[in-house]
Amino acid sequence: MMASLWVRRLLTSCDGIGNKLVRAASSFDSVMKPLEGFKPTPSFKITVVGSGQVGTAVAAFLLARNLTKNLVIHDVKYDLATSEALDFSHASAFLGNPIVRACGDGNRTKNSDVIIITAGARPSGKTRSRLDVMHKTVEILKSVVPKLAKLSPKAVFIVICNPADVMTFAVQRIGNLEKHRCFTTGCHLDTARFRYLIAKRLKVPTSDVKGYVIGEHGSTAVPVWSSVTVGGIRLSDIVKDLGTAKDAEKWSDLVDGILNAGVHVSKAKGYTNWAVGLTTSDVVACMLQNTGKVCCVGTDVKGLYCLKDSVVLSVPCRVTANGISHIMELPLTEDEHKNLLKSADTLLSAQCSLKW
Ligand code: LAC
Repeated sequence: MMASLWVRRLLTSCDGIGNKLVRAASSFDSVMKPLEGFKPTPSFKITVVGSGQVGTAVAAFLLARNLTKNLVIHDVKYDLATSEALDFSHASAFLGNPIVRACGDGNRTKNSDVIIITAGARPSGKTRSRLDVMHKTVEILKSVVPKLAKLSPKAVFIVICNPADVMTFAVQRIGNLEKHRCFTTGCHLDTARFRYLIAKRLKVPTSDVKGYVIGEHGSTAVPVWSSVTVGGIRLSDIVKDLGTAKDAEKWSDLVDGILNAGVHVSKAKGYTNWAVGLTTSDVVACMLQNTGKVCCVGTDVKGLYCLKDSVVLSVPCRVTANGISHIMELPLTEDEHKNLLKSADTLLSAQCSLKW
């Protein structure tokens, strides 16, 4: 009887978290009465730009870790974004009921709190150099970032596409974004790899190893051996000449596993995605907790570490809901500092070669 009252028409309503929905009317509406005066609170909205291997890994971890209930997957290949959004939506019951939507023209990204940029050209060839793909990726960024920045004036931008440091410099300029609210996950990933490799060698849990890799997210990254502690014990106090050419234990052999991680992982599968996806979800979790946890992320560090020019590189930073609140000046040995300046020089010349 109720069903006979069903009239097929389109209704505009809200999904309860602030998204406008257009849906077919149902006889179920007769038992679900909207309350006058109710206004939905917009939920924490994240846009992932790019639905390739990295974008979908980021989306999967954001959803699986319950970091958002309102996710937009934005890709100029709208059909692909739609398929990915649908695939995630089918698992809605296991993900805590998120709304996952696709977007092709940018409009649905409006009022995002966080925008994660993964779109870009993929490094290829033997070296898989992240710097090689720079010019192609910057053209992609020029075509999407201005609209995203305009539609989400308060969003924090996290740039992952490679070369991540130079692309962050580009996005800060293309979107006219302050440096605290546009940064790269950068060496937070290299730092995770460093801790893992040390932990593996010492047969201790990775979380008990602290220490940082700073500089470029690439071949000039600087492992800061002097910052490494294991269970609170400074490793350089125990291992003589740790990480240097004189080190009899050859700890510097681990560095290849960090600097060439992309090459090693890509050998059979052709790309990396899981570790960077988890690294990104860790940074977003820090933002949500808003405790100012220290992550080794990259923004413009002009004026720090004796750097006179604007250059984006990773160093330990406090990450909050509104982006980076503080940049830490990690005490470095003379050699570590020299290597950081070399890394900055590499990035500066890459930045200077960008065509605007
Ligand atoms: C990596 C890519 C994200 O290091 O640069 O896995």
